[in-house]
Amino acid sequence: MIHKPRIPFSRSPVDFESVAPLFKEAIDNGWLTTGPLVERFNSGLKNYWETDNVVLVSSCTAALQIALKALDLKHNDEVIIPAMTFIATLEAIELSGLTPVLADIDPLTWNISVKSIEQKISPWTKAIIAVAFAGNPPAMQELRKLADKHNLKLILDNAHALEAKFDGKFLHHYADFSCYSFYATKNLTTAEGGAIICSKEDMERVRALSLHGMSRNAWNRYAGGTWRYDIVETGFKANLTDIHAAIGIAQLGKIETHHKRRLELIEKYGSGLKGLPIRFQGLEGLVSPNGHAAHLFSISIAPQSIVKRDTLIEELQKNSIAYSVHFIPLPEFSTVQKKYNFKPEDYPHSYEYFSGALSLPLYPQLKDSEVDEIIKVIRSLFAENAVTSAV
Ligand SMILES: Cc1ncc(COP(=O)(O)O)c(C=O)c1O
Repeated sequence: MIHKPRIPFSRSPVDFESVAPLFKEAIDNGWLTTGPLVERFNSGLKNYWETDNVVLVSSCTAALQIALKALDLKHNDEVIIPAMTFIATLEAIELSGLTPVLADIDPLTWNISVKSIEQKISPWTKAIIAVAFAGNPPAMQELRKLADKHNLKLILDNAHALEAKFDGKFLHHYADFSCYSFYATKNLTTAEGGAIICSKEDMERVRALSLHGMSRNAWNRYAGGTWRYDIVETGFKANLTDIHAAIGIAQLGKIETHHKRRLELIEKYGSGLKGLPIRFQGLEGLVSPNGHAAHLFSISIAPQSIVKRDTLIEELQKNSIAYSVHFIPLPEFSTVQKKYNFKPEDYPHSYEYFSGALSLPLYPQLKDSEVDEIIKVIRSLFAENAVTSAV
């Protein structure tokens, strides 16, 4: 039996009533894979993101691999990424025959540090992958300037930040390739899925790369009435299906309401936890408050705190409140240790953040009363410990 915490870490925003007619349509038309519903979902996203250049794929991991392939880099060329990110960012580089180089994070924004990138640039560096961690935009203008100065490509791993803006513009505006995730817990989900935004010039190539390098997909051949296609280069099998797109279409209209609620919730957490030795991303060090996608509410307990992260985890467990930890720094993983010589002491900010890191529940259906309860549990633990340590 699945153990269900009283306050889960994530609740699916997908409601059967809104998806059911779209599922019926996808099943009744018999197409099932990449077809009319993917096109409809794509049009909706183009409209939302204010760009014509969107290709839908099966995951953000696939999107990153396709973006790297489209750069035409040489074996072992270097790509700089933050030391604190999800494994997919590194995996995509490794599976592309490239070499990952880790930069530290900024101690306030918890995104890749521009200063640290500068120290890692070598004659083999060809690209940077910045991650909008938790939904907080990285320093997009500085990153763009740095990439241009050193003739590097800028890829954005935007798995957490589809709604984020920097200086009033969606983040894809600043990057050469932006990669998105529609994984089950993401702000907009299709269960599994992803997207790439690129330049107009790269669009056709990216689309072909997402489906075996085929010049025309089956739906276009069917709709256009001719069977002939070419394989223009070796690609991936990473197309999104109509079944997944049905889930996405049903939620597209709710993006803004959900985003607004997520922002309200992080503000509520922020004011409720004020004064404790807890660091927040996005409340201090935030680039632009309205630009945050509010995907995760990640906190980091300050190193000087008497209450440590693992004690807080025990307390949350006792109260049946779910949590998660985002992210374990990449040098911690055994496979990474076997292949690379990354030293934890080279990433002091990533490790300091990680030593106190914890993510609390955050989703549109989370009730104010539930956030109040989580805050109460945390404040009581800190209060109890303050008394004990004073005795
Ligand atoms: C920062 C980051 N990048 C990439 C991914 C991979 O996304 P997907 O599961 O769509 O491949 C994730 C997934 O959670 C992520 O958090």
